[in-house]
Amino acid sequence: MNNKKVNFRVFPGGTLRGRARVPGDKSISHRSIMLGSIAEGVTHISGFLEAEDCLATMNAFRAMGVEIEGPANGEVTVHGVGLYGLKAPGQPLYLGNSGTSMRLLSGLLAGQNFDSVLTGDASLTRRPMRRVTDPLRQMGAVIKTSANGTAPLFIRGGGTLDSLHYDMPVASAQVKSCLLLAGLYAEGETSIIEPAPTRDHTERMLAGFGYPVSREGNRIAVHSGGVLQAAEIDVPSDISSAAFFMVGAAIAENADVTLLHVGVNPTRTGVIDILQLMGANIEIFNRKEVGGEPVADIRIRSSRLKGVDIPEALVPLAIDEFPVLFVAAACAEGETRLSGAEELRVKESDRIQVMADGLQTLGVHAMPTPDGMVIRPHTITGGSVDSHGDHRIAMAFSVAALRALGPIYISNCENVNTSFPTFVSLANSLGLKVLVRQE
Ligand code: S3P
Repeated sequence: MNNKKVNFRVFPGGTLRGRARVPGDKSISHRSIMLGSIAEGVTHISGFLEAEDCLATMNAFRAMGVEIEGPANGEVTVHGVGLYGLKAPGQPLYLGNSGTSMRLLSGLLAGQNFDSVLTGDASLTRRPMRRVTDPLRQMGAVIKTSANGTAPLFIRGGGTLDSLHYDMPVASAQVKSCLLLAGLYAEGETSIIEPAPTRDHTERMLAGFGYPVSREGNRIAVHSGGVLQAAEIDVPSDISSAAFFMVGAAIAENADVTLLHVGVNPTRTGVIDILQLMGANIEIFNRKEVGGEPVADIRIRSSRLKGVDIPEALVPLAIDEFPVLFVAAACAEGETRLSGAEELRVKESDRIQVMADGLQTLGVHAMPTPDGMVIRPHTITGGSVDSHGDHRIAMAFSVAALRALGPIYISNCENVNTSFPTFVSLANSLGLKVLVRQE
Protein backbone atom coordinates (compact mmCIF):
# COMPACT_ATOMS: atom_id res chain seq x y z
CA MET A 1 0.00 0.00 0.00
CA ASN A 2 1.20 3.49 -0.83
CA ASN A 3 0.66 5.95 2.02
CA LYS A 4 1.56 9.05 0.04
CA LYS A 5 -1.09 11.74 -0.18
CA VAL A 6 -2.10 12.55 -3.72
CA ASN A 7 -3.44 16.01 -4.55
CA PHE A 8 -4.73 17.26 -7.88
CA ARG A 9 -4.27 20.75 -9.28
CA VAL A 10 -6.66 21.31 -12.12
CA PHE A 11 -6.25 24.40 -14.27
CA PRO A 12 -9.03 26.29 -15.99
CA GLY A 13 -9.15 26.82 -19.73
CA GLY A 14 -9.26 23.18 -20.80
CA THR A 15 -11.91 21.44 -22.85
CA LEU A 16 -12.63 17.82 -23.80
CA ARG A 17 -12.31 16.61 -27.38
CA GLY A 18 -11.69 13.19 -28.89
CA ARG A 19 -12.61 9.52 -28.54
CA ALA A 20 -11.85 7.42 -25.48
CA ARG A 21 -12.58 4.06 -23.98
CA VAL A 22 -12.82 4.36 -20.22
CA PRO A 23 -11.88 1.30 -18.11
CA GLY A 24 -14.12 -1.64 -17.36
CA ASP A 25 -17.24 -1.56 -15.23
CA LYS A 26 -16.47 -1.91 -11.54
CA SER A 27 -19.68 -3.68 -10.56
CA ILE A 28 -19.39 -6.22 -13.38
CA SER A 29 -15.66 -6.79 -12.74
CA HIS A 30 -16.30 -7.66 -9.08
CA ARG A 31 -19.05 -10.08 -10.01
CA SER A 32 -16.96 -11.73 -12.73
CA ILE A 33 -14.34 -12.76 -10.15
CA MET A 34 -16.93 -13.87 -7.60
CA LEU A 35 -19.05 -15.94 -9.96
CA GLY A 36 -16.05 -17.21 -11.93
CA SER A 37 -14.56 -18.48 -8.67
CA ILE A 38 -17.63 -20.46 -7.63
CA ALA A 39 -18.32 -21.78 -11.13
CA GLU A 40 -17.27 -25.16 -12.52
CA GLY A 41 -14.50 -24.74 -15.10
CA VAL A 42 -12.33 -21.95 -16.42
CA THR A 43 -13.80 -18.46 -16.87
CA HIS A 44 -12.08 -15.98 -19.12
CA ILE A 45 -12.67 -12.28 -18.52
CA SER A 46 -11.69 -9.40 -20.80
CA GLY A 47 -12.05 -5.69 -20.09
CA PHE A 48 -11.59 -6.34 -16.35
CA LEU A 49 -11.15 -3.17 -14.29
CA GLU A 50 -7.61 -3.21 -12.91
CA ALA A 51 -8.37 -0.91 -10.00
CA GLU A 52 -7.87 -1.32 -6.27
CA ASP A 53 -11.49 -2.25 -5.45
CA CYS A 54 -11.65 -5.11 -7.94
CA LEU A 55 -8.12 -6.24 -7.10
CA ALA A 56 -9.28 -6.50 -3.47
CA THR A 57 -12.00 -8.91 -4.57
CA MET A 58 -9.50 -10.84 -6.66
CA ASN A 59 -7.05 -11.12 -3.75
CA ALA A 60 -9.82 -12.30 -1.44
CA PHE A 61 -10.61 -15.21 -3.77
CA ARG A 62 -6.93 -16.03 -4.19
CA ALA A 63 -6.72 -16.16 -0.39
CA MET A 64 -9.57 -18.69 -0.51
CA GLY A 65 -7.60 -20.97 -2.81
CA VAL A 66 -8.84 -19.89 -6.23
CA GLU A 67 -6.19 -19.83 -8.94
CA ILE A 68 -6.53 -16.58 -10.88
CA GLU A 69 -4.22 -15.54 -13.73
CA GLY A 70 -3.79 -11.88 -14.56
CA PRO A 71 -4.86 -9.20 -14.77
CA ALA A 72 -2.87 -8.34 -17.89
CA ASN A 73 -4.38 -5.68 -20.12
CA GLY A 74 -7.78 -6.45 -18.65
CA GLU A 75 -7.50 -10.19 -19.32
CA VAL A 76 -8.14 -12.48 -16.37
CA THR A 77 -8.50 -16.25 -16.17
CA VAL A 78 -10.31 -17.72 -13.18
CA HIS A 79 -10.03 -21.42 -12.43
CA GLY A 80 -13.40 -21.97 -10.78
CA VAL A 81 -13.59 -24.27 -7.78
CA GLY A 82 -17.36 -24.79 -7.77
CA LEU A 83 -19.91 -23.67 -5.18
CA TYR A 84 -18.32 -25.78 -2.44
CA GLY A 85 -14.63 -25.53 -3.36
CA LEU A 86 -13.53 -22.35 -1.55
CA LYS A 87 -11.00 -22.84 1.25
CA ALA A 88 -10.67 -21.07 4.60
CA PRO A 89 -8.51 -17.96 4.20
CA GLY A 90 -5.49 -17.96 6.50
CA GLN A 91 -6.13 -14.38 7.61
CA PRO A 92 -8.76 -11.63 7.58
CA LEU A 93 -9.76 -10.60 4.07
CA TYR A 94 -8.76 -6.95 3.63
CA LEU A 95 -11.12 -5.24 1.19
CA GLY A 96 -9.68 -1.72 1.22
CA ASN A 97 -12.28 0.91 0.29
CA SER A 98 -14.67 -1.48 -1.43
CA GLY A 99 -18.23 -1.65 -0.14
CA THR A 100 -19.25 -3.92 -3.02
CA SER A 101 -16.59 -6.49 -2.08
CA MET A 102 -17.63 -6.50 1.56
CA ARG A 103 -21.39 -6.62 1.12
CA LEU A 104 -21.42 -9.24 -1.63
CA LEU A 105 -18.78 -11.39 0.06
CA SER A 106 -20.69 -11.35 3.34
CA GLY A 107 -23.55 -13.20 1.61
CA LEU A 108 -21.30 -15.65 -0.16
CA LEU A 109 -19.24 -16.39 2.96
CA ALA A 110 -22.27 -16.88 5.20
CA GLY A 111 -22.89 -20.07 3.22
CA GLN A 112 -19.41 -21.59 3.54
CA ASN A 113 -18.24 -24.32 5.88
CA PHE A 114 -15.38 -22.16 7.26
CA ASP A 115 -15.09 -19.00 9.35
CA SER A 116 -13.96 -15.72 7.80
CA VAL A 117 -13.27 -12.12 8.75
CA LEU A 118 -13.89 -9.16 6.44
CA THR A 119 -12.18 -5.87 7.07
CA GLY A 120 -11.23 -2.70 5.22
CA ASP A 121 -9.92 0.85 5.40
CA ALA A 122 -11.15 3.67 7.65
CA SER A 123 -14.00 4.61 5.28
CA LEU A 124 -15.23 1.02 4.75
CA THR A 125 -15.17 0.23 8.47
CA ARG A 126 -17.47 3.22 9.06
CA ARG A 127 -20.07 2.21 6.48
CA PRO A 128 -23.39 0.61 7.48
CA MET A 129 -23.36 -3.19 7.33
CA ARG A 130 -26.58 -3.98 9.21
CA ARG A 131 -28.38 -3.76 5.88
CA VAL A 132 -26.66 -7.08 5.03
CA THR A 133 -26.04 -8.61 8.45
CA ASP A 134 -29.71 -8.24 9.56
CA PRO A 135 -31.23 -10.25 6.69
CA LEU A 136 -28.34 -12.73 6.71
CA ARG A 137 -29.01 -13.36 10.41
CA GLN A 138 -32.67 -13.93 9.53
CA MET A 139 -31.36 -16.70 7.27
CA GLY A 140 -29.54 -18.20 10.26
CA ALA A 141 -26.08 -16.78 9.57
CA VAL A 142 -23.88 -16.09 12.58
CA ILE A 143 -22.06 -12.76 12.10
CA LYS A 144 -20.37 -10.56 14.66
CA THR A 145 -19.82 -6.88 13.98
CA SER A 146 -18.70 -3.84 15.98
CA ALA A 147 -21.25 -2.46 18.46
CA ASN A 148 -22.60 -0.07 15.85
CA GLY A 149 -22.99 -2.74 13.21
CA THR A 150 -19.89 -1.95 11.17
CA ALA A 151 -16.91 -4.01 9.97
CA PRO A 152 -14.83 -5.97 10.74
CA LEU A 153 -17.40 -8.71 10.10
CA PHE A 154 -16.71 -12.06 11.77
CA ILE A 155 -18.66 -14.67 9.82
CA ARG A 156 -19.12 -18.12 11.30
CA GLY A 157 -19.20 -20.93 8.76
CA GLY A 158 -20.43 -24.48 8.97
CA GLY A 159 -24.09 -23.79 9.71
CA THR A 160 -27.01 -24.08 7.37
CA LEU A 161 -28.86 -21.15 5.84
CA ASP A 162 -32.64 -21.00 5.73
CA SER A 163 -34.40 -19.47 2.78
CA LEU A 164 -35.62 -15.90 3.16
CA HIS A 165 -38.30 -13.79 1.53
CA TYR A 166 -37.04 -10.30 2.04
CA ASP A 167 -38.74 -6.99 1.44
CA MET A 168 -35.70 -4.76 1.05
CA PRO A 169 -36.07 -1.45 2.94
CA VAL A 170 -33.43 0.39 0.83
CA ALA A 171 -33.03 0.21 -2.94
CA SER A 172 -29.58 -1.40 -2.88
CA ALA A 173 -28.00 -3.65 -5.48
CA GLN A 174 -25.35 -4.63 -2.95
CA VAL A 175 -27.94 -5.92 -0.49
CA LYS A 176 -29.90 -7.68 -3.22
CA SER A 177 -26.72 -9.30 -4.57
CA CYS A 178 -25.55 -10.32 -1.10
CA LEU A 179 -28.81 -12.15 -0.50
CA LEU A 180 -28.87 -13.77 -3.94
CA LEU A 181 -25.36 -15.13 -3.29
CA ALA A 182 -26.40 -16.39 0.15
CA GLY A 183 -29.48 -17.86 -1.54
CA LEU A 184 -27.25 -20.15 -3.62
CA TYR A 185 -26.43 -21.91 -0.33
CA ALA A 186 -29.80 -21.66 1.47
CA GLU A 187 -32.55 -24.25 1.70
CA GLY A 188 -35.08 -23.87 -1.13
CA GLU A 189 -36.01 -20.50 -2.59
CA THR A 190 -34.66 -17.09 -1.52
CA SER A 191 -36.48 -14.05 -2.85
CA ILE A 192 -36.01 -10.32 -2.60
CA ILE A 193 -38.45 -7.52 -3.30
CA GLU A 194 -36.85 -4.27 -4.44
CA PRO A 195 -38.54 -0.96 -3.51
CA ALA A 196 -37.19 0.46 -6.80
CA PRO A 197 -35.13 -1.06 -9.63
CA THR A 198 -31.39 -1.25 -8.90
CA ARG A 199 -28.49 -2.47 -11.04
CA ASP A 200 -29.15 -6.04 -12.10
CA HIS A 201 -25.66 -7.25 -13.02
CA THR A 202 -25.75 -10.12 -10.53
CA GLU A 203 -28.98 -11.48 -11.98
CA ARG A 204 -27.73 -11.13 -15.55
CA MET A 205 -24.37 -12.72 -14.79
CA LEU A 206 -25.86 -15.61 -12.81
CA ALA A 207 -28.03 -16.33 -15.84
CA GLY A 208 -24.91 -16.05 -18.06
CA PHE A 209 -23.29 -18.75 -15.88
CA GLY A 210 -26.34 -20.94 -16.47
CA TYR A 211 -27.83 -20.41 -13.01
CA PRO A 212 -31.60 -19.80 -13.13
CA VAL A 213 -32.81 -16.54 -11.60
CA SER A 214 -36.46 -15.59 -11.76
CA ARG A 215 -37.79 -12.07 -11.91
CA GLU A 216 -41.48 -11.18 -11.65
CA GLY A 217 -42.12 -7.47 -11.34
CA ASN A 218 -39.95 -6.29 -8.47
CA ARG A 219 -39.40 -9.80 -7.02
CA ILE A 220 -36.15 -11.63 -7.76
CA ALA A 221 -35.58 -15.23 -6.67
CA VAL A 222 -33.02 -18.03 -6.76
CA HIS A 223 -33.23 -21.67 -5.68
CA SER A 224 -30.29 -23.48 -4.19
CA GLY A 225 -29.11 -26.72 -5.72
CA GLY A 226 -27.96 -25.35 -9.08
CA VAL A 227 -24.50 -25.19 -10.61
CA LEU A 228 -22.64 -22.30 -12.25
CA GLN A 229 -20.84 -23.19 -15.48
CA ALA A 230 -17.75 -21.19 -16.48
CA ALA A 231 -18.40 -18.42 -19.00
CA GLU A 232 -16.70 -15.87 -21.25
CA ILE A 233 -17.13 -12.36 -19.88
CA ASP A 234 -16.52 -9.16 -21.82
CA VAL A 235 -16.76 -6.29 -19.33
CA PRO A 236 -18.12 -3.07 -20.89
CA SER A 237 -16.67 0.34 -20.03
CA ASP A 238 -18.00 1.77 -16.80
CA ILE A 239 -20.75 4.34 -17.34
CA SER A 240 -19.92 5.68 -13.87
CA SER A 241 -16.40 6.55 -15.11
CA ALA A 242 -17.71 7.77 -18.48
CA ALA A 243 -20.02 10.13 -16.56
CA PHE A 244 -17.11 12.45 -15.66
CA PHE A 245 -16.38 13.06 -19.33
CA MET A 246 -20.06 13.24 -20.23
CA VAL A 247 -20.61 16.06 -17.76
CA GLY A 248 -17.22 17.59 -18.62
CA ALA A 249 -18.08 17.74 -22.32
CA ALA A 250 -21.55 19.12 -21.60
CA ILE A 251 -20.24 22.02 -19.47
CA ALA A 252 -17.03 22.89 -21.38
CA GLU A 253 -16.86 25.22 -24.37
CA ASN A 254 -16.10 23.71 -27.74
CA ALA A 255 -16.22 20.15 -26.41
CA ASP A 256 -16.96 17.00 -28.40
CA VAL A 257 -16.24 13.60 -26.87
CA THR A 258 -17.16 10.09 -27.95
CA LEU A 259 -16.97 7.39 -25.31
CA LEU A 260 -16.69 3.88 -26.71
CA HIS A 261 -18.21 0.56 -25.65
CA VAL A 262 -19.96 1.98 -22.58
CA GLY A 263 -22.28 -0.25 -20.57
CA VAL A 264 -25.81 1.10 -21.01
CA ASN A 265 -27.73 -1.38 -18.91
CA PRO A 266 -31.04 0.43 -18.23
CA THR A 267 -30.48 0.05 -14.48
CA ARG A 268 -27.39 2.28 -14.84
CA THR A 269 -28.36 4.98 -17.33
CA GLY A 270 -29.95 7.49 -14.96
CA VAL A 271 -27.05 9.86 -15.65
CA ILE A 272 -27.97 10.00 -19.34
CA ASP A 273 -31.64 10.57 -18.53
CA ILE A 274 -30.83 13.36 -16.07
CA LEU A 275 -28.39 15.08 -18.43
CA GLN A 276 -30.96 14.85 -21.23
CA LEU A 277 -33.60 16.40 -18.96
CA MET A 278 -31.09 19.20 -18.37
CA GLY A 279 -30.82 19.70 -22.13
CA ALA A 280 -27.48 18.00 -22.82
CA ASN A 281 -26.48 17.21 -26.37
CA ILE A 282 -26.03 13.42 -26.21
CA GLU A 283 -26.16 10.84 -28.98
CA ILE A 284 -26.14 7.10 -28.34
CA PHE A 285 -25.24 4.78 -31.21
CA ASN A 286 -23.67 1.40 -32.12
CA ARG A 287 -25.95 -0.27 -29.63
CA LYS A 288 -25.29 -3.97 -29.19
CA GLU A 289 -25.41 -6.66 -26.55
CA VAL A 290 -22.18 -8.17 -25.19
CA GLY A 291 -22.40 -11.16 -22.88
CA GLY A 292 -25.88 -10.26 -21.66
CA GLU A 293 -25.10 -6.56 -21.06
CA PRO A 294 -26.11 -3.76 -23.46
CA VAL A 295 -23.27 -1.49 -24.65
CA ALA A 296 -23.11 1.56 -26.91
CA ASP A 297 -20.95 4.48 -27.97
CA ILE A 298 -21.92 7.85 -26.51
CA ARG A 299 -21.14 11.22 -28.09
CA ILE A 300 -21.57 14.34 -26.04
CA ARG A 301 -20.95 17.95 -27.00
CA SER A 302 -21.01 21.37 -25.34
CA SER A 303 -24.53 22.04 -24.16
CA ARG A 304 -26.59 24.78 -22.56
CA LEU A 305 -27.78 23.00 -19.46
CA LYS A 306 -30.83 24.05 -17.48
CA GLY A 307 -31.62 23.27 -13.85
CA VAL A 308 -34.22 20.57 -13.16
CA ASP A 309 -36.06 18.79 -10.38
CA ILE A 310 -34.45 15.37 -10.56
CA PRO A 311 -37.17 12.68 -10.61
CA GLU A 312 -36.78 10.45 -7.55
CA ALA A 313 -37.28 7.33 -9.68
CA LEU A 314 -33.94 8.09 -11.36
CA VAL A 315 -31.99 8.24 -8.08
CA PRO A 316 -31.01 4.53 -7.78
CA LEU A 317 -30.25 4.47 -11.51
CA ALA A 318 -27.69 7.27 -11.16
CA ILE A 319 -26.63 6.73 -7.55
CA ASP A 320 -22.87 6.97 -8.16
CA GLU A 321 -23.09 9.88 -10.58
CA PHE A 322 -24.46 12.59 -8.26
CA PRO A 323 -21.11 14.16 -7.36
CA VAL A 324 -20.50 15.00 -11.00
CA LEU A 325 -24.18 15.76 -11.68
CA PHE A 326 -23.96 18.41 -8.93
CA VAL A 327 -21.16 19.98 -10.96
CA ALA A 328 -23.41 19.93 -14.04
CA ALA A 329 -26.13 21.62 -11.96
CA ALA A 330 -23.65 24.29 -10.82
CA CYS A 331 -23.06 25.16 -14.50
CA ALA A 332 -26.71 25.10 -15.58
CA GLU A 333 -29.20 27.93 -15.88
CA GLY A 334 -31.70 27.84 -13.00
CA GLU A 335 -31.98 25.84 -9.84
CA THR A 336 -31.58 22.04 -9.61
CA ARG A 337 -33.22 20.12 -6.80
CA LEU A 338 -32.45 16.56 -5.70
CA SER A 339 -34.44 14.67 -3.07
CA GLY A 340 -34.88 11.01 -2.09
CA ALA A 341 -31.11 10.47 -2.18
CA GLU A 342 -30.24 10.00 1.52
CA GLU A 343 -28.13 6.97 0.47
CA LEU A 344 -25.52 9.46 -0.78
CA ARG A 345 -24.70 10.17 2.86
CA VAL A 346 -23.35 6.63 3.39
CA LYS A 347 -21.16 6.17 0.32
CA GLU A 348 -17.35 6.33 0.40
CA SER A 349 -17.93 9.75 1.99
CA ASP A 350 -21.05 11.73 2.87
CA ARG A 351 -21.44 12.85 -0.72
CA ILE A 352 -24.14 15.41 0.07
CA GLN A 353 -22.11 17.25 2.70
CA VAL A 354 -18.72 16.91 1.02
CA MET A 355 -20.00 18.13 -2.37
CA ALA A 356 -21.98 20.98 -0.80
CA ASP A 357 -18.89 22.11 1.18
CA GLY A 358 -16.66 21.99 -1.89
CA LEU A 359 -19.14 23.71 -4.19
CA GLN A 360 -19.66 26.47 -1.64
CA THR A 361 -15.89 26.98 -1.43
CA LEU A 362 -15.93 27.39 -5.21
CA GLY A 363 -18.64 30.04 -5.02
CA VAL A 364 -21.69 27.92 -5.92
CA HIS A 365 -24.89 28.16 -3.85
CA ALA A 366 -25.19 24.52 -2.82
CA MET A 367 -27.67 23.91 -0.01
CA PRO A 368 -27.56 20.40 1.46
CA THR A 369 -30.82 18.83 2.68
CA PRO A 370 -31.18 15.59 4.66
CA ASP A 371 -31.87 13.63 1.47
CA GLY A 372 -30.43 15.72 -1.34
CA MET A 373 -29.32 19.16 -2.38
CA VAL A 374 -30.55 22.39 -3.90
CA ILE A 375 -28.03 23.97 -6.26
CA ARG A 376 -28.26 27.50 -7.55
CA PRO A 377 -25.69 27.87 -10.31
CA HIS A 378 -22.96 30.46 -10.07
CA THR A 379 -19.58 31.16 -11.62
CA ILE A 380 -17.06 28.64 -10.28
CA THR A 381 -14.24 30.67 -8.81
CA GLY A 382 -11.50 28.12 -8.18
CA GLY A 383 -10.03 27.34 -4.77
CA SER A 384 -9.13 24.42 -2.50
CA VAL A 385 -11.48 21.52 -1.81
CA ASP A 386 -11.09 18.23 0.04
CA SER A 387 -12.25 15.00 -1.60
CA HIS A 388 -12.27 13.24 1.80
CA GLY A 389 -10.64 10.24 0.16
CA ASP A 390 -13.67 9.70 -2.08
CA HIS A 391 -12.68 8.85 -5.66
CA ARG A 392 -15.84 10.21 -7.25
CA ILE A 393 -15.61 13.53 -5.39
CA ALA A 394 -12.01 13.98 -6.56
CA MET A 395 -12.96 13.34 -10.19
CA ALA A 396 -16.11 15.49 -10.00
CA PHE A 397 -14.18 18.54 -8.80
CA SER A 398 -11.54 17.93 -11.47
CA VAL A 399 -14.22 18.28 -14.11
CA ALA A 400 -15.52 21.47 -12.45
CA ALA A 401 -12.26 23.18 -13.47
CA LEU A 402 -13.50 23.17 -17.08
CA ARG A 403 -15.74 26.07 -16.06
CA ALA A 404 -13.68 27.65 -13.28
CA LEU A 405 -12.07 31.09 -13.25
CA GLY A 406 -8.97 29.86 -11.41
CA PRO A 407 -7.27 26.55 -10.56
CA ILE A 408 -8.99 24.01 -8.32
CA TYR A 409 -6.78 22.26 -5.76
CA ILE A 410 -8.21 18.93 -4.65
CA SER A 411 -6.70 17.06 -1.71
CA ASN A 412 -6.80 13.35 -0.81
CA CYS A 413 -7.19 12.04 -4.35
CA GLU A 414 -5.30 8.75 -3.87
CA ASN A 415 -8.52 6.73 -3.96
CA VAL A 416 -9.14 7.61 -7.60
CA ASN A 417 -7.15 4.40 -7.96
CA THR A 418 -10.04 2.41 -6.48
CA SER A 419 -12.15 2.81 -9.62
CA PHE A 420 -10.31 4.75 -12.34
CA PRO A 421 -6.50 4.57 -12.08
CA THR A 422 -6.04 6.02 -15.58
CA PHE A 423 -8.31 9.01 -14.95
CA VAL A 424 -5.61 11.68 -15.02
CA SER A 425 -3.86 10.45 -18.17
CA LEU A 426 -7.14 9.92 -20.02
CA ALA A 427 -8.54 13.27 -18.88
CA ASN A 428 -5.36 15.08 -19.92
CA SER A 429 -5.34 13.33 -23.30
CA LEU A 430 -8.86 14.67 -23.91
CA GLY A 431 -7.86 18.22 -22.91
CA LEU A 432 -8.42 18.64 -19.17
CA LYS A 433 -5.40 20.14 -17.39
CA VAL A 434 -4.70 18.04 -14.31
CA LEU A 435 -1.40 18.00 -12.47
CA VAL A 436 -0.77 15.34 -9.82
CA ARG A 437 1.26 16.12 -6.71
CA GLN A 438 2.35 13.41 -4.30
CA GLU A 439 3.31 14.42 -0.79
C1 S3P B 1 -22.98 -1.28 -6.41
C2 S3P B 1 -24.16 -0.82 -5.92
C3 S3P B 1 -24.37 0.56 -5.44
C4 S3P B 1 -23.26 1.49 -5.91
C5 S3P B 1 -21.92 0.89 -5.75
C6 S3P B 1 -21.80 -0.40 -6.54
C7 S3P B 1 -22.87 -2.68 -6.85
O1 S3P B 1 -24.38 0.56 -4.02
O2 S3P B 1 -23.33 2.72 -5.22
O3 S3P B 1 -20.91 1.80 -6.19
O4 S3P B 1 -21.90 -3.03 -7.55
O5 S3P B 1 -23.77 -3.46 -6.53
P1 S3P B 1 -25.74 0.33 -3.16
O6 S3P B 1 -26.22 -1.04 -3.37
O7 S3P B 1 -25.31 0.56 -1.73
O8 S3P B 1 -26.68 1.39 -3.67
